[in-house]
Amino acid sequence: MSERPSVFVTRVIPEEGLAAVRGACEMDLWTDELPPTRDELLRRVAGRDGVLTLLTDRVDAGFLDAAGPQLKVVSNYAVGFDNIDVAECARRGVAVGNTPGVLTETTADLAFALLMAAARRLPEGDRYVRAGKWKTWGPMLLLGPDVHGATLGIVGFGRIGQAVAQRAKGFGMEILYHDLHQLPPEVTEPLGATYMPLEQLLPLCDFVSIHVNLSEETRGLIKAETLAWMKPTAVLVNTSRGPVIDHPALADALRDGVIAAAALDVTDPEPIPMDDPLVGLDNCLIVPHIASASRATRGKMAAMAAANLLAGVRGEPLPTPVAPPG
Ligand code: DGY
Repeated sequence: MSERPSVFVTRVIPEEGLAAVRGACEMDLWTDELPPTRDELLRRVAGRDGVLTLLTDRVDAGFLDAAGPQLKVVSNYAVGFDNIDVAECARRGVAVGNTPGVLTETTADLAFALLMAAARRLPEGDRYVRAGKWKTWGPMLLLGPDVHGATLGIVGFGRIGQAVAQRAKGFGMEILYHDLHQLPPEVTEPLGATYMPLEQLLPLCDFVSIHVNLSEETRGLIKAETLAWMKPTAVLVNTSRGPVIDHPALADALRDGVIAAAALDVTDPEPIPMDDPLVGLDNCLIVPHIASASRATRGKMAAMAAANLLAGVRGEPLPTPVAPPG
C-alpha cells in the first residue's frame, strides 16, 4: 500500500502548486473545465487525506461525511472561504487553509479598473465602435464623471479595501470607509481615509467599492434601502462576493436612475444567468470573477494552497489556516 497521502484536487491550478502536490502525494486531479458535480465531488473525496478545493466546491457536513474520518485538511484555492463550513470542519478536526495576502494588490487593481471602466463607459464605447456607430468626434458622446478628485467610499476596509484606497490616493480622491470597527490612525491616516457609518457614507460618495467578506451580516448589505441612500450619479463596484448585493434591487436602481452605473466582478449566482435583468443593462459592466486573475498571483495562490494541503496531510500546522468562528 502507498505511504503517500491520497489527495483530490478539484481543478487544474497553476504548476507552481500542482508540481508540489504531484511530487508528494497520490494526486487525483479533476481536469474538466467545469467543476465536478456534487455527486462526482462526493465520490472523489471518499477516503482522501486532503482535498484542494475551489470556491465552486461546497464543503459541508455532506462533503465531510463522504470524505470520511481520515480527512485531515481542506485547502481552499481562494482567500474567501464562504464555500466552506469552517465550524463543521473544526468540530471534526479537519484543518482549513486559504490564500490570503498574495492576491490583495491584483484584486485592488481590478477593482480600480472596474471603477474607471464604468465611470468612463469603456464597454459602451467599445460596443459603439464595433457596432459601426462611430461617425465623428462628438462633444456629447459617452460623457461620464471624473475619477480624479471624486469621493470614494470603501465598504470593508481590510487588506484589499486599503489597497484600493492606496490607488485612489494617487487619483487625488477623497476616501471614506465603512467597516465593522474603526481602524487605528496608523492605518487610516497615511491613506487619508475617514470612517463613517454606511448611512452617512453612501450619500456622499461618487464611487462605492465593496470589499467585505460574505457572512450572514453582509448578505444583502446593498439592497433597495441602501441603494436609495446613494447619489443618482454614483458608480457601485463589487469585487467581493455576489450575494452582498441584492441583484433585483440593483437592477431596479440601475434602470430607474437611482444610481448611474455598476461594475461587477462577482454575481449571485455565478455564472450570472443570461436572462438576469442586469445582463441587459448598458450601465452594468460584468466580468467573470477575475479579480485575482494575473498569472503571477494565480501562481502564488497555487503555491500557497499546495503548502497548506501538504502541511495538513502531514499533520503539521497550516502556513495560512482559517480560524474557526468564535
Ligand atoms: C478569492 O480568492 O476569494 C477570490 O474570489 C478568487 O481569487
